[in-house]
Amino acid sequence: MRVRKRKGAEDYLESHPQYVILNPEDAKGKWHQVFGNTNPIHIEVGSGKGAFITGMALKNPDINYIGIDIQVSVLSYALDKVLESQAPNVRLLRVDGSSLVNYFEKGEVAQMYLNFSDPWPKTKHEKRRLTYKTFLDTYKDILPENGEIHFKTDNRGLFEYSLASFSQYGMILKQVWLDLHASDFEGNVMTEYEQKFSSNGQVIYRVEAQF
Ligand SMILES: C[S@@+](CC[C@H](N)C(=O)[O-])C[C@H]1O[C@@H](n2cnc3c(N)ncnc32)[C@H](O)[C@@H]1O
Repeated sequence: MRVRKRKGAEDYLESHPQYVILNPEDAKGKWHQVFGNTNPIHIEVGSGKGAFITGMALKNPDINYIGIDIQVSVLSYALDKVLESQAPNVRLLRVDGSSLVNYFEKGEVAQMYLNFSDPWPKTKHEKRRLTYKTFLDTYKDILPENGEIHFKTDNRGLFEYSLASFSQYGMILKQVWLDLHASDFEGNVMTEYEQKFSSNGQVIYRVEAQF
């Protein structure tokens, strides 16, 4: 997803250091100090405009959430939502998902989410998919033993690829949903993409995979 540049987005992010972590390398190993409590930390990589991460934060006040996205303008829309929600347990980070070991110690992230990640359908772009093995190496390095990735998508090709990638990596596929919204799964928090795709009648896939 490419979003049109939002004027002043960078300044807007920088003027809210209480929510946007500007020097995340300084937070490595100290995220509990950032949140001011010892609650578990969950992250979403590719958090987009923030509906999921803020929705989860409001729903689960005893969990700390970090929304991570590489695009400044996208993150600025997420900041709108965070400010509107006034949730104290959410932070935003503008970094690349491939570089997370620079910002988190092993086990510092209790669980992670990938939602509607860019599918990069061409084989030559496989390495950019957020479920490619080098990304899994990174996630493994920041999650605890038996840490989990919860992944949702509307894209069947990316879903099939990711199931294979998780499994080839030796991960356990704990549960798989081939039509999340028609299932009895409780407490689903929708992302912006999920709202859009499901209102068009598209099926939503979900998997919980464990290292
Ligand atoms: C298709 S959008 C989905 C956004 C949101 N999760 C949703 O479901 O509405 C994918 C998002 O992932 C972000 N992204 C792509 N590659 C990334 C990477 N390597 N690190 C961090 N974010 C990334 C993009 O900037 C974009 O905002």
